[in-house]
Amino acid sequence: MQQSGPLLSRRHFLTAAGAAAVTVALPIHPARTAQAIREFRLMAQSGRIPLLGPGYSETAVWCYGDGVPGPEIRARQGERIRIVVQNRLEQTTTVHWHGLRVPNAMDGVPHLTQPPIKVGSDFTYEFELRDAGTYLYHSHDHGNVQVPMGLFGPLIVEEAEAIPVDRDLTWMLSDWRLTRDAQISSDFGNFMDMSMAGRIGNTVTINARMPGSWSVRAGERIRLRIINTASARLFALSFDDHRPRVIALDGQPVEPHEPEQRLVILGPGMRADLMIDMTGDPGGSYAIRDSFYTGQSYKLADFTYSEDKPLRSRPPEAAIKLPTNTMPEPDPDKAERHTVAFGGGMMGMMGGRGMGGMGGMMGGMRGRGGMWTINGVAATGPAMEPFLMLDRGRSYILSLRNDTAWFHPIHLHGHSFRVIARNGASTRNREWRDTVLIAPRESADIAFVADNPGDWMIHCHILDHQEGGMMGVIRVA
Ligand code: C2O
Ligand code: CU
Repeated sequence: MQQSGPLLSRRHFLTAAGAAAVTVALPIHPARTAQAIREFRLMAQSGRIPLLGPGYSETAVWCYGDGVPGPEIRARQGERIRIVVQNRLEQTTTVHWHGLRVPNAMDGVPHLTQPPIKVGSDFTYEFELRDAGTYLYHSHDHGNVQVPMGLFGPLIVEEAEAIPVDRDLTWMLSDWRLTRDAQISSDFGNFMDMSMAGRIGNTVTINARMPGSWSVRAGERIRLRIINTASARLFALSFDDHRPRVIALDGQPVEPHEPEQRLVILGPGMRADLMIDMTGDPGGSYAIRDSFYTGQSYKLADFTYSEDKPLRSRPPEAAIKLPTNTMPEPDPDKAERHTVAFGGGMMGMMGGRGMGGMGGMMGGMRGRGGMWTINGVAATGPAMEPFLMLDRGRSYILSLRNDTAWFHPIHLHGHSFRVIARNGASTRNREWRDTVLIAPRESADIAFVADNPGDWMIHCHILDHQEGGMMGVIRVA
C-alpha cells in the first residue's frame, strides 16, 4: 500500500491487506459481448460452506455458484447486465434485484412478474443499471426458506466517477439459526417466528464467515458497504472511537452525515455505505458492536490495526459526497396521498428495542398465512390484485402506518422513494430508500414519482412477516 499520494479509486480485496481471508466471493467470468452486455451466471444449488470455520463441520446451504454469499455482481452505472439463473435446487426459485429499478418483467417475483423457474430449468434476466450504489440480489420464491438457506449475494453498481478511497469493502450481514452440529435448523416459518419477530438466529456472520477481526491500517479511508441479508434480525452498529459518515442509504446518495446516536440501523434488505477514516492507533483494536435488541448487545467484530505507521497524518480532504442518481424528484405539493396501514401479529414481549409488555393475541388472527395485513388484508401469495392504482408519471405520498407492536422494514419494488416525514415531522435528510424501517406505532411518509410501469410488490422484509401476509401489490399504469 502506498505511503502517500492520491487515494486509490479502485477496489482492493480485503485479502490483499492480509486480514482474515474473507474474500467476498469470486467474481464470475464477466464476459463482454459485442453489445457490451456484461454477462453473469448464477447456478442455484446445494453446497457446503465452512460457516463456523476450523474445528466445526461444514454447514449445508443453498448457494449461487459455489458459496455464500453468491458471487459479487459488479458493473458500472449505465451498463447492461445479463444474468442467467440456473435452477439446480429441488424446488422452484426466482431472483429479485433488490433496490434496482428494473423493468417489471425482470423483477423476479414468482406468479406476479414471471413464472417461477422450474427445477432443472433456466431464466435469463437482463436490464440496464440506471443508478449507482450498493444493492443485493436474493431469492424471491419461498423467500423465508431460500434466503436463510443462503440464496443471496451482493450487487455493486460503481459510479461513473468513483470517489477516492483506499479500500472499498462489502459486508453482507446475515443471521443463521444453527443446530449444535452447525447445520441450519429446519424449523422455517414456525408459528412463533411468524407471529412475532421473525426467524432470529443464533449466529451472525459477515460474508457468511465468523467475523473475527478485520485488519486495517491507521490513516486509511475505507468505504464500507453494509448489506443486511438476515431474514429477520435488525442491527444497530457502533464503531467505537471511529466517526463513520453515512454517504448512501439503500444504495442512494445522501448528504454525508454522522448517524444519529452514532448507531447505524439496518433492517433486513437495508444497506448503508459508510466512509470510515481509520483514526485509531497502530497496533490498536476497536470493537464493532451491535446493540439493537435491548440487553442483547454483543461484539460483532474488531478493527485490528497493523503496526505500520499511519498511511497519512490526518483524514484526506477529498470530497465524500456521491453524485446523485437518476430518480425523478417528487413534487409534494402536487402529490396524491394514500395511507397504507400495516397490522397484525402478536402483542410483543420480544418486540425489539425497549419493548416490554405482555403476551396475547391481536384480534382477527386466522393462523398461519393470515397473521399480518396491509390495509386489513392478509395476502396468501404474491399473485394478487393491486390495492393501489397509481398513474404513471405522477407524484405520490404514501403514509405508511405501523399499527403493530413490531418493527417492520417495508420494501417497495421498482422504485426508490424519499422518506420525508416520520410521525408527521419532516426528516432531516429526506433520504432516498427502497426499504424503510418503521417502529411500532410509528408512521413514515414516503414520496416518489410512479415512473416505472407494472405491478410492484410492497412488503415487509422480515421474510416470515411477508410470508405471513404482509405483502401487497401496487399497480403503476
Ligand atoms: Cu428484497 Cu421483495 O425483496
Ligand atoms: Cu414485518
